[in-house]
Amino acid sequence: LARGVTAPDLAGRHVVVSAGGTREPLDPVRFLGNRSSGKQGYALARTAAARGARVTLIAANTGLPDPAGVDVVRVGTAVQLREAVLKAAPDADAVVMAAAVADFRPSAYATGKIKKKDGEEPEPIVLVRNPDVLAEISADRARAGQVVVGFAAETDDVLANGRTKLRRKGCDLLVVNEVGERRTFGSEENEAVVLGADGSETPVPYGPKEALAETVWDLVARRFG
Ligand code: CTP
Ligand code: CA
Repeated sequence: LARGVTAPDLAGRHVVVSAGGTREPLDPVRFLGNRSSGKQGYALARTAAARGARVTLIAANTGLPDPAGVDVVRVGTAVQLREAVLKAAPDADAVVMAAAVADFRPSAYATGKIKKKDGEEPEPIVLVRNPDVLAEISADRARAGQVVVGFAAETDDVLANGRTKLRRKGCDLLVVNEVGERRTFGSEENEAVVLGADGSETPVPYGPKEALAETVWDLVARRFG
């Protein structure tokens, strides 16, 4: 692969990476969220920039410092993340959805803090579906030849579930992590299999998130031709 002193292999490319986890507000002080740290998405953004790409990083609630040389767009909710991705996608050669997007959001937002009342049971929280950003951009293909990558964390039947999810989403590549036990959110390391819509399977051994990021860009660059 052409890297290092030779021409960087992502030079002239624009890539969009989403990172972190969305938060769905209940009221001004409370939200439904998840444990995604954003570290894998930031590793993807850093490595793409190092390989010469122009990078737009859509960061959901990460609290991580902006990587040097990367355009960072900060978002909170799944709906905001969708808007930011759809705005950047028409100009993107690749879109990598590393963010943990909440599947549901509270159906109602209380503009004032929800208060408890003596002797009264709490109101149930009613949820509605959020838009599926990965499925939408996979169907859109805002730019000819655009490569779309998804991430999935699975606990059981990792490969079979990953294959089904890849088909359902319509993306080109799906990075499947096995979660549970030592493979926890927020860690510095990751182990994965990258499934391709072409039937390919690329195992990535347990190691730093940068190594997984480099493999993802190798596979993306190969699809650019
Ligand atoms: N994703 C998305 N929009 C959503 C949910 C997920 O774009 N509303 C993206 C994630 O960023 C990730 C991929 O879809 O790249 C897979 O997420 P995952 O939660 O594993 O898939 P789901 O279709 O939500 O399936 P599940 O019911 O297993 O959560
Ligand atoms: Ca989900």
